Amino acid sequence: MEKKLEGRKELDALRQLMPPPVLIDFFSNDYLGLAKCKKIYDHSLEIMKENSCFLNGSTGSRLLSGNHFLFAMAEALIARFHNAEAALLFNSGYDANLGLLSSIAQRGDIILYDESSHASIRDGISMGVAKAFKFRHNDVNHLLQLIEKYQAGSYEGEIFVVTESVFSMDGDKPDLIKIADLTNKLHCRLIVDEAHATGVLGKNGEGLVHQLGLQEKVFARIVTFGKALGAHGAAILGSKELQDYLVNFSRSFIYTTGLPPHSVATIIAAYSMLPGNDNYRLLHDNIKYFRQEVKKTIWKSTL
Ligand SMILES: Cc1ncc(COP(=O)(O)O)c(C=O)c1O
Repeated sequence: MEKKLEGRKELDALRQLMPPPVLIDFFSNDYLGLAKCKKIYDHSLEIMKENSCFLNGSTGSRLLSGNHFLFAMAEALIARFHNAEAALLFNSGYDANLGLLSSIAQRGDIILYDESSHASIRDGISMGVAKAFKFRHNDVNHLLQLIEKYQAGSYEGEIFVVTESVFSMDGDKPDLIKIADLTNKLHCRLIVDEAHATGVLGKNGEGLVHQLGLQEKVFARIVTFGKALGAHGAAILGSKELQDYLVNFSRSFIYTTGLPPHSVATIIAAYSMLPGNDNYRLLHDNIKYFRQEVKKTIWKSTL
């Protein structure tokens, strides 16, 4: 441990826990300011009271004692909001990716994932039994080459393609229309992590897949609630069959205590704030302004 920690210090890369600085927020994921929204806080308590739910914790795995009825309420609402057949809640986006990517592909299947994919996607893949290969960041031609390579010859397995709708580090987007067309034409299954698009893209924050009308072409979407929704947790959107599969085979769903009712009530309350949210417009104005100013600065620095 000492040696590894020293190595980090030498590289000036030692991570340490510190209280969040009191500065203008350019670094959190609370894109709409909903984490500090009193209305959501109050509404979530109302939801608990209205439903006579006075539990502090869920008491166990959802497959045992932990499946309090707020889960069904939240999952129906989330599926409807994102226009998906079914939604399944997970304790976090990290858990959702781990649970999906470690279980969905079987031996002989292949996973192709964008080289800039989030750690949770990579960790999930590395826990599974399928072979996985990266394609160059947002490079549809490279993805096509890889699909053609692995579909040639005696290949018989499924190919899963994984990308994000807004990349966590650079904030850029893939050409999702092209990727969805390609994966559909070549019978691959497309998985899109919408962590940074949930609440941020689409008319009411439904995400990029919904904005582009690609719901039918996407096998699974991951939406998370710790970012623009200002809460915690995540859901995997897809078919009812996928939901049933995950309930049976996704280890990060099965072997953990379910989210407490208060967290689920907060997710329900946060969703109710999305349609027509004033901060949504403000966020997009800020993004536009920031981009303009960055462009000007770069332009000036090249003079
Ligand atoms: C693309 C992406 N997926 C998943 C996650 C994990 O989500 P959570 O913070 O809910 O665990 C993150 C978190 O930063 C992310 O950026």
